Amino acid sequence: MQPNYTYQKKDVDEIVIRDFNFDFPDDIDPVWAPGNPVRSHLFNGLSLTMPYLEPYLIRATLKAREHITDPDLLEDIKGFNRQEANHFKCHRRYNTLLKANGYPELEKIETHMTRAYARLESRSLQTQLAYNAGFESMTCGFTNWFVSKRKSLFAGTCPYVSSFWIVHMIEEGEHKTVAFDTYMAYSGKYLPRLLGVFHGSFHVLGLGMWGMIVALKKDKILYRPKTLWQIAKEMTSLVINVGPGMARALLPGFNPRKEADPQWMMDWIKGYDKLPKGALIPLVDTSNPEMPVPF
Ligand SMILES: [Fe+2]
Ligand SMILES: [Fe+2]
Repeated sequence: MQPNYTYQKKDVDEIVIRDFNFDFPDDIDPVWAPGNPVRSHLFNGLSLTMPYLEPYLIRATLKAREHITDPDLLEDIKGFNRQEANHFKCHRRYNTLLKANGYPELEKIETHMTRAYARLESRSLQTQLAYNAGFESMTCGFTNWFVSKRKSLFAGTCPYVSSFWIVHMIEEGEHKTVAFDTYMAYSGKYLPRLLGVFHGSFHVLGLGMWGMIVALKKDKILYRPKTLWQIAKEMTSLVINVGPGMARALLPGFNPRKEADPQWMMDWIKGYDKLPKGALIPLVDTSNPEMPVPF
């Protein structure tokens, strides 16, 4: 462990392990945002990466754990790994439904990802942890985007898919410090972390976009002007909403603790606390224009 690493208190008291499970209907429509196949397939493409990315994040973090002695960080790592494990299992179920409901072609990207993450794991632990910290700094931006702009992104869409993404990002917000702290405790060097922001973020975004393109080709709408216009709009919205946080992550003094959590997210966490043990995570009401906290 880096001798000059000191643990700092995080924003949330605890990384809560929830029964992260959504009862997706077997015949779920992969175009879960009606009239917006681009957004649907982009997020589906990102979902496709999770059962490859998140187990890799866990394995790399477990390797780093052997070098870490700080008890608070070790506790956080435990929470991080358990949340990520819940996420990828749920994404895997959802992805199986995507393939069964019209998009078996996505499997070729999965084959590619198996190899890509094996290659990444042959690189130094510093490179892996920088990738993790970089990717997780991008998810901070996604949390803010999904929660603060939930009405424009998810109103009127399938409540299962919307709730699944929103709750995933809430938990990302909850454990936003862990990959960064792990990197800082193991290495702390600025330049590899800077490269990790690009490496982790663009790798996953690129894979997600590949998934989107494969699905749009399958729909035979990829080259339609309306589709291209929608792609341009979604990309602009991604850059506007996630770009500033990523730019902050490039600065030497970056710390995810400085990234504010949206109030709706904090209210959701408080609301969940009162949910009886064993109860399913309630869905966000996407037919309510306000999309309030579902507790
Ligand atoms: Fe996750
Ligand atoms: Fe995460």
